[in-house]
Amino acid sequence: MDNTKEYIKEHQQRFLDELIDLLKIPSISADSAYKKEVLKTAEQVTIRLKEAGCDHVVICETAGYPIVYGEKTIDKNLPTVLVYGHYDVQPPDPLNLWHSPPFDPVIKKTETHPEGAIFARGACDDKGQMYMHVKALEFMTRTNQLPCNVKFMIEGEEEVGSPNLAIFVKENQEKLKNDVILISDTGMIAQDVPSITTGLRGLSYVEVEVTGPNRDLHSGLYGGAVANPINVLSKMIASLHDDNNHITIPGFYDKVEELSKEERAQMAKAPFNLEDYKKALDISAVYGEAGYTTNERNSIRPTLDVNGIWGGYTGEGAKTVIASKAYAKISMRLVPNQDWEEITKLFKTHFENIAPAGVTVKVTPHHGGQGYVTPIDSMGYKAASKAYQDTFGKTPIPQRSGGSIPIVSLFEQELKSKTILMGFGLDSDAIHSPNEHFGVFNYLKGIETIPLFYKYFAELSK
Ligand code: BES
Ligand code: MN
Ligand code: MN
Repeated sequence: MDNTKEYIKEHQQRFLDELIDLLKIPSISADSAYKKEVLKTAEQVTIRLKEAGCDHVVICETAGYPIVYGEKTIDKNLPTVLVYGHYDVQPPDPLNLWHSPPFDPVIKKTETHPEGAIFARGACDDKGQMYMHVKALEFMTRTNQLPCNVKFMIEGEEEVGSPNLAIFVKENQEKLKNDVILISDTGMIAQDVPSITTGLRGLSYVEVEVTGPNRDLHSGLYGGAVANPINVLSKMIASLHDDNNHITIPGFYDKVEELSKEERAQMAKAPFNLEDYKKALDISAVYGEAGYTTNERNSIRPTLDVNGIWGGYTGEGAKTVIASKAYAKISMRLVPNQDWEEITKLFKTHFENIAPAGVTVKVTPHHGGQGYVTPIDSMGYKAASKAYQDTFGKTPIPQRSGGSIPIVSLFEQELKSKTILMGFGLDSDAIHSPNEHFGVFNYLKGIETIPLFYKYFAELSK
């Protein structure tokens, strides 16, 4: 690729301004109050894709938020890259913990980002990373260097489990036909340690409800004599892990892929400093499943976590009460071979079984998806590796991530192609948290690296 650096330098300010414009729209898919804004974001993405050189950009309606689809075909004999990303974002709350408003993007310097980082909800997950692909396309089309055909599929429901994308993919197999899928919606190890994500965990997300007496009771008059749903729920949740922090649901580990000694030794080579890790989170010790390292616990091992728990009186002061109901939202991160629907069933059966007499339990599954692993000898991986080699001067490290993008396994199943996860975020970029940000360096480095992926993929495909 010629003149990438020069082009980026010349247009850097506009690239940032356009992203900032996109970040100003609160496209919160989980909250129906923002419906208009989510739709407006889809329109803006459409306009930007057209400007970047995509032909046939269309807003594809679904039962939920639309999918923005665009393509540019230059030669039927050349390989086709399908880019996936999402324009929706997580809710920004708790708002009071943001140092600047979540939808009023500002660029500030930080220790990790001396060149500055854009602070806004969605900056890293995923507007900033998705938009790198739009700008990379602009560069390739304006300088006549696009070496592959390209298709874009940008959805607006990723943060709520992509309920309609699966249907769209199944119904549009021919339209979405491709040779490789490219996604930037993950992270890398550090600014000077490039890595390519080779695995994602699966997910099963459930909500539980424990009901005791038919009304809230005086905790003095009834306390000690009837089951307190909050006490019971706490006890049930606590019993889901044993003393070694293994999950106690029968059958939970049956299909878990166990990595070989060699694979684990390979993983342990990735740079990681436990002291820095603890310091960054202000914790005095790490915590997790016995027999596994921190990096193993958060990538190759399945987990169970309470994401929210409520019931009873949580207002100011004290109220003496035994609540009628208690609730929790629980997520299980899964690893290859674990089937999320099967795990959801195992959870439900177990949770109902351990409920003591005196309460009833209701388990409601939310959403889920399968995990994903991708080999490092595929053409796509090799092309990505060469691209990073050029822009970072280092071979990227393959690394499995703990996060989930459930649609990726469906892509493989339905479209029969491999997904390459070229993420440019850092774990410290606070995605889903207050003060989410994305490094200006990372944003521009992404725009520089992506065209090289196209170049090497086209070369390797010959
Ligand atoms: N982009 C993230 C997933 C991610 C982040 C993977 C960093 C690897 C590294 C995605 O937007 C996300 O948040 N996914 C959800 C699951 C989804 C079903 C709501 C997740 O992982 O919690
Ligand atoms: Mn994302
Ligand atoms: Mn996300």
